[in-house]
Amino acid sequence: MSRLRAAARGRQGLPQGVGEVRKSPRRCRENPSSGKGVFPSLSTQQSAYHLFSHPVEIQAFRVNLLAWYDKCKRDLPWRKLAASESDPTRRAYTVWVSEIMLQQTQVATVIDYYNRWMQKWPTLQALAGASLEDVNELWAGLGYYSRGKRLQEAAQKVVSELAGEMPRAAEELQKLLPGVGRYTAGAIASIAYGQATGVVDGNVIRVLCRVRGIGADSSSPAVIDRLWDLANTLVDPVRPGDFNQAMMELGATVCTPRAPLCMECPVKPHCRARCRVEKELECASKRLLGKAAPTCPQAPDVEECAAGSCSLCLPATEPWDSSRGVANFPRRAAKKQPRAERTATCVLERRGPGGEPEYLIVQRPSSGLLAGLWEFPSLPLEPGLNEKQQREVVLGHIQAWAGDAVARGRLRHVGEVIHIFSHIHQTYVVYSLLLGGGAQTTASGQDGQPACRWVTQADLQKSAISTAMKKVWKARERLSCEGLGPGTGHKRKRGCEVARAGQLKAEADSSRPRRQQLSLAAFLKAPAGE
Ligand code: ADE
Repeated sequence: MSRLRAAARGRQGLPQGVGEVRKSPRRCRENPSSGKGVFPSLSTQQSAYHLFSHPVEIQAFRVNLLAWYDKCKRDLPWRKLAASESDPTRRAYTVWVSEIMLQQTQVATVIDYYNRWMQKWPTLQALAGASLEDVNELWAGLGYYSRGKRLQEAAQKVVSELAGEMPRAAEELQKLLPGVGRYTAGAIASIAYGQATGVVDGNVIRVLCRVRGIGADSSSPAVIDRLWDLANTLVDPVRPGDFNQAMMELGATVCTPRAPLCMECPVKPHCRARCRVEKELECASKRLLGKAAPTCPQAPDVEECAAGSCSLCLPATEPWDSSRGVANFPRRAAKKQPRAERTATCVLERRGPGGEPEYLIVQRPSSGLLAGLWEFPSLPLEPGLNEKQQREVVLGHIQAWAGDAVARGRLRHVGEVIHIFSHIHQTYVVYSLLLGGGAQTTASGQDGQPACRWVTQADLQKSAISTAMKKVWKARERLSCEGLGPGTGHKRKRGCEVARAGQLKAEADSSRPRRQQLSLAAFLKAPAGE
């Protein structure tokens, strides 16, 4: 979903006027439901089959969708907060935070983060005064960390350059606020300010492609542009915020990617994909009774759309697949595979002044992947190193941090942990090492060295560390539970779960069933959607 959403949200340009109709026909006929010749003919590229051009149908769509939304909408904290907030800028802030968090992250994961965020920074002004460290700490585990940083930078801009007032129009929001793209601007403008402007995200793409039978590559700029036109045509001018949320809600709960609940769909009568499925079923049952030709039509009637030459229909190379039903839509070009990388990371432990274990964490650079977050000392591994060479590289890196306190023989190979970022398939080769008494590290944050600090386990839990590092910690803790890790002696700890190092790689794959939870379960749980 993330790439799709990014494509939809990131595209530049202003929303077009509601109900705008594009000129000029090709072979395709007017919308079958619209009555011939009543409405202006449409695009040079698309037929009316893929558009909404009849006001009666548009109004019926809005009424059906909003009635369903009023009855079935989920009770979500940002909706409650926005509804209870009478001050427009404060209301816009409540919407803005939720929309940024919801990008690339599922609703269920966002709820807790949202509540904690709004409690900590209930206003733009409060957020503008926060430190980036605090923002990263709260965001830890939500993924795509630049979102939190940019939200805070934008809040600072509103406070310092816009006299604390949020812009109100989608166009201005997008132009003036860093991190606010076309989607977020449309969502804030419609939900908080009532501007009649549509939104297009991954859920809306799916709904619109099905409803209008759009089978062309839904990640292509031309199709995305047409989807924005459709969203702007459909949006309800009286309740634009509810309409947009209803479209997203429909995509998230009914018109789902693999197993859509068409029987519960409030806009079923407007759905071209559903219509095709029903025609097919009807034809199949007639065939069974010997009342129809041996094959059923696989494309819209020529009366509806000149499917063979239409740029929005399913391409001839990937025709309708009966087994997929409405899930034939949307189609998109194959995703680029994430590139594979290997990184060595070492959980370095020492005894603190009172004998309690402490761990070294190092801050990542302030830009790029996981910017500003903390991690165990890590370094990228060149391809092709054997195990011995890998150990040497890791020991060299640790010695740069901890100098002579490193007893080389104590370096343990814990296992491998896999974490998939949007564009990187990252394998962490995890090591652990217990340093000798009173170990010091090189000065933190000086001479170009990244900042580093020793933290207790409790501090670690509160620090801004990524989900990937939480998995690394979990792997290391499992090994230590086995009684093999540093500082554990040879007895297995009570309540610990057993896993061999070799199993860790497989268990990092979240598709596998989870084992018994550790005491740190809540801390270590990888949120969905990352
Ligand atoms: N996804 C993103 N924003 C949403 C919203 N406001 N309602 C439902 N789903 C969403």
